[in-house]
Amino acid sequence: MFITFEGPDGSGKSTQCRLLAEHLQSLGHNVLLTREPGGTEISNQVRQILMDMKNKSMFPATEFLLFSSARAQLVREKIKPHLAGGGVVISDRYFDSSLAYQGYGHGLPLNSIRAVTALATDSLIPDLTLLLDIDAERGLRRRQSNGAEWNRLDDYTLAFHQRVRQGYMEMVKAEPARWRVLNADQPVDILQEEVREVVAAFMAGRSQKSDS
Ligand code: TYD
Repeated sequence: MFITFEGPDGSGKSTQCRLLAEHLQSLGHNVLLTREPGGTEISNQVRQILMDMKNKSMFPATEFLLFSSARAQLVREKIKPHLAGGGVVISDRYFDSSLAYQGYGHGLPLNSIRAVTALATDSLIPDLTLLLDIDAERGLRRRQSNGAEWNRLDDYTLAFHQRVRQGYMEMVKAEPARWRVLNADQPVDILQEEVREVVAAFMAGRSQKSDS
């Protein structure tokens, strides 16, 4: 089972991913927790280029292809082998981030993003995607106040982050069976309870289907 987390910056995804991974491990699942961009040595090198404040002149197309190259490595080196071994993969962001940020945010054509993404991911689509939704301004404020280092990608304007959020909403509408939307503007433990409920319900539904 392949679960991804999406959401605007400052939605608390990383904490929720980690807590879910620990929970599923305690239930006996073999869990791989990963994040984008990153998750492999090569992908982490690409991450450095993407985050570097020196690279202010990077074009959205360059950015997208770098995210895609980091993703291509992660899928082949880590995600696919883990799924093939019967494990659960949890990823903090995946290709939906490219559609939201480089597509809806920067205006790259969605069809081109989808075509390159099919190659990058070898057409691997998550079974379940959780959108941790939060108002763009509130998310950015949380991001600034939680002490995380400010990187080049945090520097985009509020209007950009609002388009990203709107983009996520459109993607949910277009593919409701894969997405679940949770309100990220609530305490960590309450949100984590909701995350666990959603995942448990999804897993129960799947095992029912495979029994019948
Ligand atoms: P990161 O520091 O990992 O933060 P977050 O907790 O918000 O995930 O930064 C990842 C940044 O990269 C974030 O601003 C979203 C952006 N991003 C894209 O623009 N496109 C992508 O395809 C991915 C994976 C991330």
